[in-house]
Amino acid sequence: MKTILTTLGFSLLFCVLISCSTSENDDSQPRTDTQTNKKPDAGDIKSYTLVNKNGIELTAISYGGIITSLKVPDKNGVLGDVVLGYDNIQDYIDRNPYFGAIIGRYGNRIAKGKFTLDGQEYQLATNDNGNQLHGGILGFDKVIWDVSEFKKDNGTGLVFSYSSADMEEGYPGKLDVNVTYFLSDENALEFEYRAVTDKKTIINLTHHDYFNLSGMKENILNHELEINASTFLPVDDTLIPTGEMRPVKGTPFDFTTAKPIGRDINADNTQLKIAGGYDHNWLLNKDGQEMTHAASLYEPKSGRLMEVYTTEPGLQFYSGNFLDGTITGKNGVVYSKYYGLCLETQHYPDSPNKPEFPSVVLEPGKEYRTKSVYKFSTR
Ligand code: GLA
Repeated sequence: MKTILTTLGFSLLFCVLISCSTSENDDSQPRTDTQTNKKPDAGDIKSYTLVNKNGIELTAISYGGIITSLKVPDKNGVLGDVVLGYDNIQDYIDRNPYFGAIIGRYGNRIAKGKFTLDGQEYQLATNDNGNQLHGGILGFDKVIWDVSEFKKDNGTGLVFSYSSADMEEGYPGKLDVNVTYFLSDENALEFEYRAVTDKKTIINLTHHDYFNLSGMKENILNHELEINASTFLPVDDTLIPTGEMRPVKGTPFDFTTAKPIGRDINADNTQLKIAGGYDHNWLLNKDGQEMTHAASLYEPKSGRLMEVYTTEPGLQFYSGNFLDGTITGKNGVVYSKYYGLCLETQHYPDSPNKPEFPSVVLEPGKEYRTKSVYKFSTR
């Protein structure tokens, strides 16, 4: 097992100005963005590589906690990179559609970027058709994290720590976050998310890896996917859940037994048309917060299998619909539509505005804690 630390001296030159209005003590006004994060000043981005005893190799950087490569063996033992990304770190800074990043404070969408807590309305930064997506303009995918390395008997890991200021991107409370990546000798990549706040707030952390188990040889339409969910959340035309929880049975959204993603993706179905493919949240079959099987993804030619387990209630399956060939990724591969897919474990989108959904509120004195596992094997 080895851990390699490389320091890359990339200058971060950012200037993103967000208009803010301050209304902290005025109850007639919604609380708004008073302390939006500045993109990091010029600084160093560090890169860390973990290798397990079977040769699985993960590289991640301190910017956004981005996993820039994840090499896992195929059925012949040949290592292949199974995540989309860039060859140059600068590209992650300039134009990253969340490749490989930690997402927070709120993964997925909040309608109109608004929510109310204890009668106080908050207005978040909006960055997606008038809604908030993935934590706002400078979310956790675009900040520099402190990183420390650790070793256990059965693997090695990294701890990413970040302290998000009160009202950063419009969210109340100073939030101290730790995300642990652990690569085990059992070929599991485990993410553990923890956070504490000093004021009542909302939180929904996730990870945004774009997987392609073929080793980037073709798009993901031949990947076979199984999702352990009998219902999913239909969305409006801005991808906000309507509130309906619709059974998947008899629809293209039925992945209760494994099927190729491409089988129904072009079916005549309003939900598929709205999203340009799959970009929906599946309500995982479970009772509480126990760790359960969420999904299995299998690529027949390479034989690579990835199984996802989580304590979270929902899974966003995004089939890479917005990839349109304008991004050339690692090794000159052009990322056309459906070239990668995301299986984001999380609470349901727009939960702060949907009291019938499981709560995403975090109170001071309580710890936010979730865990998701991506396990690799071959068949
Ligand atoms: C998420 C969303 C998608 C899209 C991608 C990033 O997974 O659900 O709609 O915004 O992120 O492009």
